[in-house]
Formats: sequence, C-alpha cells, structure tokens
Amino acid sequence: MLVLGIETSCDETAAAVVRDGREILSNVIYSQVKTHTPYGGVVPELASREHLVKIRGIVDKALADAGMGLDDVDGIAATAGPGLIGSLLVGLTYAKALSLSKHKPLAAVNHIEGHIYSVSFEHPDVEFPGLALVVSGGHTNLFLVESESGDFRHLKYKLVGKTRDDAAGEAYDKVAKLIGLSYPGGPIIDALAKKGNRDAYQFAIPKISDRSLDFSFSGIKTAVLRMVKENENLKEDPLRLDLCASFQEAVVNMLWSTTVKAAESLQPRSIMLSGGVAANSRLREGFTERSAEAGLKFYYPKPILTTDNAAMIAAAGTAKLLRGETADLDVNADPNMRLVASDRHVASKRWRT
Ligand code: KG4
Ligand code: ZN
Repeated sequence: MLVLGIETSCDETAAAVVRDGREILSNVIYSQVKTHTPYGGVVPELASREHLVKIRGIVDKALADAGMGLDDVDGIAATAGPGLIGSLLVGLTYAKALSLSKHKPLAAVNHIEGHIYSVSFEHPDVEFPGLALVVSGGHTNLFLVESESGDFRHLKYKLVGKTRDDAAGEAYDKVAKLIGLSYPGGPIIDALAKKGNRDAYQFAIPKISDRSLDFSFSGIKTAVLRMVKENENLKEDPLRLDLCASFQEAVVNMLWSTTVKAAESLQPRSIMLSGGVAANSRLREGFTERSAEAGLKFYYPKPILTTDNAAMIAAAGTAKLLRGETADLDVNADPNMRLVASDRHVASKRWRT
C-alpha cells in the first residue's frame, strides 16, 4: 500500500510517500524557521500563508522523489490536529482536494499519533504494551500504548501523564531566548551544552505528588530567569555553556523521573521516545543508559524523523486506512484534537464497497 502523507500542523510544510507503512520512498520537509526567527517564535498567520505558497510544490516533489504520480498512490493521509488551525487547514484541505479529484481514500491523522509512529520505521518490532513519551515544542505527553495486533497496525492509547505548564521544547526555546540564543533554541542549547559542565548549577526538582505522572518545566525556566537577572555574565560564554548543560540535565532528569515512575507502576515492555525534543543528544544518551539499568527496552527514531515530518503521518495513516478508518470530506481540522483510548473514526461510507 502506497500512502502520500501531508503535514502542516505548525511551521514545517511536509509531504512523503511511504510503502506499507514501513518503507520511506520520499520525505520532503520545508522548514519555515527563517520566517519566524526574527519574531522569536512561530507567528501563526505567517505560517499558514507560507504553507499555502509551498504546499503544491512540496507534494509534487514528494511524488517525484518517489518516482510516481498521484494516480499511483493508494491513499492520502493528512494531519487534522492538534496544531495551529490556519496551518492545519492548508494541508488537510489540500489532501481533501486530492482525495476528491483522484478518488483516493483519506485518513485524518492525529499529529501526536504520527510522532509515536515515527519510531516504527526503524523499530517495527517494539514490544507492547509500551510507554510512549512525546516531547515537542507543543506537547509533553506520556501514553500507555497497547496493541490489539501485537504490532503497529492497531494501537490504543491511554494518556497517563502530561506537562502541567510548558512543553519541554517550549522550555528549551524560552530559556534560549533568556540567554540570548535564537529560535528554535533546542538544537542550539543541545550543541552548546556539549561544551559545558552539567553539574555546574543545581535546579530544584518541581514538587509533584508521588502518585502523579505529570511533568513541570516552568520552575526550571523561572530559575534560569532569576539566575540571569542576578548575573548577566550567564548570558555569555563560557558561563552560558555551563548553564546550558545544567539546564539540559534538569530537563532530562524531569523527563526520566516521571517516565521511570510510570514504568514501575504500569510495567510496560518498552519505552518509545518521539517528538522534536527526542532529537536531543543528552536526552537520548541519558534515557539509553538509564533504561538499560532499569532493564527496559528503549527505542527512538533517527533525527530526521523526530522533528515534524510527513513520513510519520503516512505511517499512522496507513494503519488507519488498513483498518478502514477513512475520513469523509466534511472532516475538520481540530487545533485541540486529543489522542484518546479509542481514537477511531467511524469508517466512512464513502469508501465502503
Ligand atoms: O516536533 P516538533 O518539530 O514540533 C512540534 O510538534 O512542536 O518539535 C519542535 C521542538 C522545538 O521546541 C525545538 O526547540 C525542539 O523541538 N528541538 C530540540 C532539539 N531539536 C529540536 N530540543 C532539544 N534538543 C534538540 N536537539
Ligand atoms: Zn510535532
């Protein structure tokens, strides 16, 4: 089954062609980062306008890179939420138009589910039930993922923990701004932290009750704000390098402490890490070491699949299409779309034979 995936939930215009939910034939990503950098964050109006300009060329390139035309694909998958409403509408509406004109079934994919599927390309044999930690600029969620089929074909999700304030990527981006780094700050802090001492500064662990599986990052961010107000030199290297390394360690510790707590109570067979922040080198390293110590299998995707892309949307969409969960043309973008226990769209009549 060949599926064309389309992703425009935030500031990447992306399209990909994936065979059988496994083999990436093309993966085209246009990042709008240059447009938004002067503003220190994504400007929704500019994002949707740029998606409009780019979408056609990006989809055409994804098909051309895969050596095929639209007639050759068996279905289309597009992100329907969560995300910025104007941005989501561009990709979803374009997908609907292609679906209508070429009589191809359409899958409306949850962006978070897409991130979870990003793990499936290199690790199709993940052991379920698993714990999926999705860490991005907009989300920090921990799901217990069960599989009816024992593999990625039919997953069920239960949200067991989430951030109470900032998302992990948001904390990275805000702290970067405080110490004079540009947007998006995550990859810059990751690089600078390699040259710093992660034990230079200690951050208090946020107070979250023993039973809760939630995360919190605003305390760490506020601590950085206070520190740089008291000492302007922290905005300059070399002190800034130590601050980056110490901040990053605090974020990794926060993410790990909740994940291991969840693993102790829920007894999953594996841990999956995904989302833009999953590109973070220290996060990967820290989770690899600690999950090995805890005797847990740990999986994460290669960097190009951690940040927003359409291959992951095509993979999640393929599973949906194979289950007959197709969307009708009146499906709407939902900026607050949730990934819930049975995230099943009722199979549409349009494609039932
Ligand atoms: O998944 P993503 O591309 O978009 C959302 O769905 O939000 O994630 C973007 C986020 C940004 O906050 C960015 O700073 C962060 O991922 N990020 C990183 C790294 N690469 C991207 N954070 C820490 N370390 C990185 N290497
Ligand atoms: Zn994302």
